Amino acid sequence: MLPEALAQQLKSHGQEHLVQHAAGLAAHEAARFAADIASLDFALLRTLQQSLRSGPPAAPQVIEPLPQLVRGADAAGDSAARVRGEAMLKAGRVAAFVVAGGQGTRLGASGPKGKHPAAAISGASLFQVFAEKLLHRGRKAGRAIPWCVMTSPENDSDTQEFFAQHAFFGLDPNDVLFFQQGTLPALDDAGRLLLRSATALFRSPDGHGGSLRALHQSGALQQLRARGVEQLFYFQVDNPLVDMCDPVFLGRHQLTLSEFSSKAVPKRAADEKVGVLGRLDGAAGVIEYSDLPAHLREARDADGQLRFRAGNIAVHVLDCAFIERFVTGSLQLPWHRARKEIPCFDAAVGNSSRVGTKFELFIFDAMPLAQRIMVMEVERRVEFSPIKNRSGDDSPDSCRRDSMELHACWLERAGFAVPRDATGALAVRVEISPLTALGPEDISALRLQPFTRNQDILL
Ligand code: UTP
Repeated sequence: MLPEALAQQLKSHGQEHLVQHAAGLAAHEAARFAADIASLDFALLRTLQQSLRSGPPAAPQVIEPLPQLVRGADAAGDSAARVRGEAMLKAGRVAAFVVAGGQGTRLGASGPKGKHPAAAISGASLFQVFAEKLLHRGRKAGRAIPWCVMTSPENDSDTQEFFAQHAFFGLDPNDVLFFQQGTLPALDDAGRLLLRSATALFRSPDGHGGSLRALHQSGALQQLRARGVEQLFYFQVDNPLVDMCDPVFLGRHQLTLSEFSSKAVPKRAADEKVGVLGRLDGAAGVIEYSDLPAHLREARDADGQLRFRAGNIAVHVLDCAFIERFVTGSLQLPWHRARKEIPCFDAAVGNSSRVGTKFELFIFDAMPLAQRIMVMEVERRVEFSPIKNRSGDDSPDSCRRDSMELHACWLERAGFAVPRDATGALAVRVEISPLTALGPEDISALRLQPFTRNQDILL
């Protein structure tokens, strides 16, 4: 049995089935169940139920492209931005922030995705690649760059253990701040809570948009502020090509007085299923592939490029002041709902699955709340090759290929011949550690012997 007050609260929220379920549990199990339910935010439950009942949000009526800067199109502007960005790093105003709380369902590997091998030859993990990029960027800036790592309750201890096992990949543990994102319950079509086990509710991570509140509630944001941090360089755990704390992007963010900046890559094709940055009914935001009408998806500019080509790669710079304004105000990001088969517990049959709705918040929904935004288009082959799927596009194989090609290109730009076959394909494997180079600018300083066809290039 549950304590009477809790039972009443459940009933008044349409959750009689949980009261009945608890009545069938042994006393110690019911106590555990009661403790789990007591941690539920009932006001939030009511909001989720309302969201379930209301139809999908109205589609935007007017969709326009957003003005964007193009990396490389204005060399003088880029170089002024680089100077500004480097000064921000040198002054300790910037922290890196990776969202690593996702479940990685499509990849299907167990454990945190950040443990997945990412480097083409050494097999260094995603976390190692990011850590070494940060080390090198910090070396250039003359000071360490703090790193926030957002985990979820499911993968937090695994993630922290992995860092500890690898001696934080050379970073000072004091510069790495772990915190967990929140979770949300899932509901069946009647608005009833699902169970994970006989004594616990089903809960799943609240999406990368949950990161803003989690930063604040965990105290991480306040710690960063105490260190003088003003901007967060936000990235996802699945993209080892990320240009870590890119000074040009940081500088452009500050010089345009932006509060929320985004990098974009041109879509591969009109039918690439990626969210696009745009102006939606007058406000900047991301429109998901399925919400972009077909005629706009296909629309082209006079120069033949897709009109809506700014594919969102979830690399952002966020002002801490903007996050503080958001988390201490009454603004709420919209709920994204996914109705799907959810593995859950059923009192009658034990482990089972049920069609239900999971809820998530998305970081880019904070964009229209910023006073100023900035979008910078960058080259996909240089900055974006995520590991999302088991095979095909955006998989470990495609990512390995892209990073080898990029590293070979850095060498070739610096005048080194990289062995290729008659079709132009690489004849050897290539990997450049982030500790050796962050980009082509670091290659010319290296003293290298000519490369041969019978040896991989590992620098
Ligand atoms: P994805 O949307 O690709 O989701 O996350 P995922 O969970 O990694 O993979 P799938 O969809 O289950 O296959 C993009 C980024 O947002 C983070 C992920 O860790 C990844 O860096 N994320 C996602 C969170 O940190 N928390 C979440 O609740 C969801």
